[in-house]
Amino acid sequence: MQDRYHRKINYLRISVTDRCNLRCVYCMPPAGVKSVSHGQILTIEEIAEVVAAGVPAGISKVRLTGGEPLIRRGVLELVAKLRAIPEIDDIALTTNGILLEKMARNLKDAGVDRVNISLDTLKPVRYREVTRGGNLDQVWRGINTALGLGLQLVKINTVVIRGFNDDELEDMARLTMEHPLHVRFIELMPVGTSENWARGRYIPSSEVRELITGALGNLTDENRTLGNGPARYGRLPGALGTVGFISAVSDHFCDRCNRLRLTATGQLRPCLFSHRETDLKGALRSGADREALTRIFQSTVMSKPDRHHLETDRPQHDRVMSQIGG
Ligand code: GTP
Ligand code: 5AD
Ligand code: SF4
Repeated sequence: MQDRYHRKINYLRISVTDRCNLRCVYCMPPAGVKSVSHGQILTIEEIAEVVAAGVPAGISKVRLTGGEPLIRRGVLELVAKLRAIPEIDDIALTTNGILLEKMARNLKDAGVDRVNISLDTLKPVRYREVTRGGNLDQVWRGINTALGLGLQLVKINTVVIRGFNDDELEDMARLTMEHPLHVRFIELMPVGTSENWARGRYIPSSEVRELITGALGNLTDENRTLGNGPARYGRLPGALGTVGFISAVSDHFCDRCNRLRLTATGQLRPCLFSHRETDLKGALRSGADREALTRIFQSTVMSKPDRHHLETDRPQHDRVMSQIGG
């Protein structure tokens, strides 16, 4: 359905757990965040029921996120349940890739159409540093497994961090020459516990684009949409994959926003940066029927703000990224 600003809202991002097997420096404090108890997290059946209730309100695309979605028990069962809803025509997953080698085949068999994998560096030592302990080899095995399975699109998410990976952006972009990978450079957003840390380390997409085209040649615009997200894509000469830019800070693509978010604890959010949440879990557990849940979707769509003001305001961060789902 359309919201008050004539945007078509058809995409639900679902955080299936607030837990993660990594602790990326821009996402979590070193000790992690205190996770909520199991009873507060939506069950697999409840998530599937929520999605089914979203369908009459226009939801046809879903993405599973976290925390790390692959550590959620029952994630394969959830994918199969979502696949069984005929109106859902796209099931995607955003993962850090650590468990992907092991799970990719089962995920595909259960019905996942495509995966986005977070990878901020090609250097093992740096990877361990930014994720506070992750093993880069494991992620590469996951990426190669995903490519080998012929999933529709395999995308890499690279958060650009000044003084950390700005000397590797050319190498990251070069990956698209040899592999059918879509490498997206994400502007570092000053949100969550790392807000102050992030402020001095942000690099705008315009600078990243210049650096890449200066080194590797012009990017030809890809008009074809590659997924449902806010990235803008271009292709390097002769490349198998594409380079994308997610300019959450400098471009605030809010006028193209198509999504709602479901937190792991069952709160429906109209916007990543919004304080307003509606308690779907409470409604569900106090016996609300599907129509009542659909009405919650409809009112959340109508409450979507026109845009965020990240470039000038302090974000309203009552939850950290891993709790909202990135
Ligand atoms: P597809 O294009 O369908 O592949 O999905 P996507 O790019 O939306 O999914 P992904 O989970 O890989 O998101 C990539 C990044 O985009 C996230 O890490 C966020 O940094 C950013 N992002 C996604 N949704 C929003 C949003 O609603 N607002 C803002 N500001 N950033 C977002
Ligand atoms: N700024 C930009 N991207 C972020 N992510 C997590 N925190 C931030 C932030 N502060 C990204 C991760 C992952 C996705 C789910 O969210 O790198 O690719
Ligand atoms: Fe985990 Fe993703 Fe946060 Fe890294 S960014 S700690 S992989 S949820």
